[in-house]
Amino acid sequence: MCGIVGAIGNIAIAKYLLKGLQRLEYRGYDSAGIALMDKLGDIHVTKVAGKIANLIPLVDQSVEAVSGIGHTRWATHGPANTENAHPHLSASGRFAIVHNGVIDNYKELKERYLSDVEFLSDTDTEVVANLIDRFVSDNKEDELEGLRKALRLLEGSYALGIIDRKHPERLYAAKEKSPLLVGVADEGHIICSDAMAGISVTKAYLLIQDGDLAILTADDVRIENLSGEVVEREMQRFDEEDSDLDKGLYPYYMLKEIEEQPSVLRHITSLYQEGLEDLPQVLKELEKAETIYMVASGTSYHASCLAKRWFEQILNKRVEAHIASEFTYEMPVISQKPFFIFLSQSGETADSRHALVKVKAAGYPSLTITNVKGSTLAREASYSLPLLAGREVAVASTKAYIAQLAVMAYLVYALKGELPDLLKGLKQVEVAMERLLSQKEAIRDVVKENLLDTRNAFYIGRGLDYLTAMENALKLKEISYLQVESFAAGELKHGTIALIEDGTPVIAIVTQAHLAKQTRSNLEEVRARGGRSLTISSSDLALEGDTVVVDAVPMRLRPFLSVVVGQLIAYYTALEKGYNVDQPRNLAKSVTVE
Ligand code: G6P
Repeated sequence: MCGIVGAIGNIAIAKYLLKGLQRLEYRGYDSAGIALMDKLGDIHVTKVAGKIANLIPLVDQSVEAVSGIGHTRWATHGPANTENAHPHLSASGRFAIVHNGVIDNYKELKERYLSDVEFLSDTDTEVVANLIDRFVSDNKEDELEGLRKALRLLEGSYALGIIDRKHPERLYAAKEKSPLLVGVADEGHIICSDAMAGISVTKAYLLIQDGDLAILTADDVRIENLSGEVVEREMQRFDEEDSDLDKGLYPYYMLKEIEEQPSVLRHITSLYQEGLEDLPQVLKELEKAETIYMVASGTSYHASCLAKRWFEQILNKRVEAHIASEFTYEMPVISQKPFFIFLSQSGETADSRHALVKVKAAGYPSLTITNVKGSTLAREASYSLPLLAGREVAVASTKAYIAQLAVMAYLVYALKGELPDLLKGLKQVEVAMERLLSQKEAIRDVVKENLLDTRNAFYIGRGLDYLTAMENALKLKEISYLQVESFAAGELKHGTIALIEDGTPVIAIVTQAHLAKQTRSNLEEVRARGGRSLTISSSDLALEGDTVVVDAVPMRLRPFLSVVVGQLIAYYTALEKGYNVDQPRNLAKSVTVE
């Protein structure tokens, strides 16, 4: 999955495309490219392997562009080289297209309609470019019908930006399953995968839907369905400021986002107390549900696992947490009165969306909790609640995870009728978090001593600490490239302890009073086999020699602090190793392919 942008009209086209792409790099950064259309209908394509920073110096700024499209890629078909980078031209050179998504039937389309075409890349996108060219050329009397015909043949997902040498005054945009917005500016129009790309140009966006084809000119937008009927689409404002997205004096967004976490907690508690549109209804649904199903991916799945425990321990409510990509294809037995919660930072994750589509089709009520207003999952669920973490840019999720915990805790304590206890506890968490962050350099020292000379590491814990261990291990592996696994501390001895060698770091999380003794004895077993033991503990359970000691806040809220220690360990390990903390290899922030 990838990020796409496009623009037409009196807009500084190349400037917008490049800046917009930089804003979309969270969606992939394997390669990048833009195509500029000049007044005479010539298309100038520049593309390169690697990041937008590699592309910028290569773009010919002297081209007087009337429109253009751009792309930042997370490779799905073919390696991340210049040939496979977008935009792709059709063989005649008439069309240039950018694409986010996956065309499942591209091989069949190629064989059936394009056997005479010579392809330059391994991508499904080049097939789409040629298919469009073929059908438009074959439909000279009604070229738009040719375009629609080509789009109707595509199976899979796409957000497309298309320019046509024969119509330099037009920019086409089409969407099926992948996110795409049409922005309305004073003297032109833009398209982008995410409003964040366009905020320097406009804040007003038309929410185009699956199956839409938008025909943009400098002063007009027409949106049709694939039968050619005009459709009306809702306009939404996105009120983010350009400056909200800068990292200021921080070397990386990840550190900025880690440090924002105490204020994220404050923001959530105050806005949720003021009341939110769907909140009363959501609480009613949760109350009456027999079983709550939480469906999510990655870090959001880890937050779901923790929330499940809170629901069970505090409310005695049955909750199942499921990995979205598994849930979609092998649904568990669903109880009589289910309620579904989709946790998703981006609100666009294809695995989660696919699961939501199935849940909706079965007629079950659902809630999306997301950080991105107007995102697909937010729009499609029965209810939606905001995470209010502010835009998260670093690929490794930090403040969105904390926000997910806070919102879930809010729901659980509200249902229990014990919100004042939670609010008091979260105040303590905020203070303790500020203190921990002010001592972050100590964690850097721990990293330097223990994690720079190893290829692997383990996190262990029991109960809530095990669930934090899962998230901490993911954070560390995704940005430091160490092989890091998390284990329920008691389970390690049933096999995995075989991997402990002299000096293997094992980080135990010890914040739960009723489990502290057992976890510590599991750590002893590791030490006895030569492992290097490190401990993150709460001050009331701390022993001499513990590596990081955090303040003792209410027991159930301790994951809020031990996860921040994990974030800092991950951050400093990647930093010390000299890696790009915000954009780790092979990953993307919003994964819109299955
Ligand atoms: C990607 C990101 C992860 C994230 C996961 C789920 O894999 O790299 O950081 O946790 O998607 O994303 P979501 O937006 O649904 O929370």
